[in-house]
Amino acid sequence: MYPRPALRLASAPALPVALVLALVLGGCGPGSGVHGKPGAASLRDPYFARIGNGGYDVQHYSLTLDYAPDTGRLNGTAEITARATHDLSAFNLDLDGLTVDSVTVDGEKAAFHHAGTELTLRPGDDLRRGATFRTVVRYSGVPRRIVDPDTSVEGWLRTGERAVGLGEPTGSMAWFPGNHHPSDKAAYDIRITVPEGVTAVSNGELRKERTADGRTSFDWHSAEPMASYVAMVAIGPYKTRQTEGTKGAVSIYTAVDPTVAKGSALLLKELPRIVKWQEKTFGPYPFSSAGVVIGRPGDSGYALETQNRPFLPGPTSVATLVHEMSHQWFGNSVTPKSWRDMWLSEGFAEYTEWLWTEHTERVPVRQSFVDAYDADANWTFPPAHPPSAVNISDPPVYGRGAMVLQRVRETVGDATFFRIVRGWARTYRHGNADTHDFTTYVERESGRDLGDLWDTWLYGEEKPSLE
Ligand code: TRP
Ligand code: ZN
Repeated sequence: MYPRPALRLASAPALPVALVLALVLGGCGPGSGVHGKPGAASLRDPYFARIGNGGYDVQHYSLTLDYAPDTGRLNGTAEITARATHDLSAFNLDLDGLTVDSVTVDGEKAAFHHAGTELTLRPGDDLRRGATFRTVVRYSGVPRRIVDPDTSVEGWLRTGERAVGLGEPTGSMAWFPGNHHPSDKAAYDIRITVPEGVTAVSNGELRKERTADGRTSFDWHSAEPMASYVAMVAIGPYKTRQTEGTKGAVSIYTAVDPTVAKGSALLLKELPRIVKWQEKTFGPYPFSSAGVVIGRPGDSGYALETQNRPFLPGPTSVATLVHEMSHQWFGNSVTPKSWRDMWLSEGFAEYTEWLWTEHTERVPVRQSFVDAYDADANWTFPPAHPPSAVNISDPPVYGRGAMVLQRVRETVGDATFFRIVRGWARTYRHGNADTHDFTTYVERESGRDLGDLWDTWLYGEEKPSLE
């Protein structure tokens, strides 16, 4: 094929590169009367310098993904509806790998430049602050697998005919362009087309499934806001089951790889019970459907709390499913503002495991706390300040995060503690929160100054003694 120039202006493909670059990266658009500036190419996350983009706020992603399991090739169209937060002459999306075939903004061809993980777009006319605009990116290629600083592997994980798209922390940019930072949540519609006989599962509810010419499309709809790191697609010979939602129970959609059907039975049986117990403990389930996807052990090395339905790499323990489902409240509904605030997800999820063990095995939470306290691995750094991106999924984020919650509980008492937990989930429902939001909320709701507790358990480098 004729080599594709990295950068093209649809209206003037023959412009010299230097001039094109100047048009894409700076200056103001002719004819709009708006004199915008480029949106920031990053949201300055303390751990991932390049992810996210400024100048706009995504409201909705409509992804149309056509996948060929035999070649691993993905043809995608991402229709992104966003609101400009300042006058914009250009803006960025994050996209790792793949080839961008065309871009339009509000129906007009836009200039674009894809370098590294930054896709820079320059619409013909500048966008006015407050304006809602629609970007359509057509792209294709074999999506890649990403290895993160913490050695987690995500992005597009392909094993033979099967594939799963996972995103924590930065993998979703391997399968669709977007504002890939947890602070910009949006609604999603994801349509996946695969060969007939193959199943494609994603977040939200399955709205429609239809087959034509040997290919089947699955339309998945997520009305509630979702951070891109918990977006998911799973493609394979899944056996699926759906229960209708009723007044007292949320609709559950499960997908299980046939090779692990037997080992998965217990998890499927426990799931409705887990959701019920968590609703009693945390308040109403935050999304319009629940479920689980159980793949094979080689699909990913870890479980992930993908929104509505966690992805499990084969049958895990019930405690792991409890952990991932608790993230629907803590992580997916109340989402960390940045990757520094991870303990607000993982501390709560670990603490939920402690509560579950007490509930089902009569192991007191205090015992789990002491076990965590005794483990040296939990004391390498304070949970609110992981030293670097390498450490964001290390034990202190989980274990010491959970210990913070137990210290709060022992200080304010059970009644106030569980009122705070439910109030936290309700107050920040479908939003974002950081550590400061949490400490402020707990102090206000308990009417106490907990400065010493935060200094010692949340921010302190030293292991405190247990009095
Ligand atoms: N969030 C997952 C869990 O605890 C674990 C995980 C998977 C993770 N991939 C990650 C944590 C990448 C940090 C970074 O349920
Ligand atoms: Zn977790």
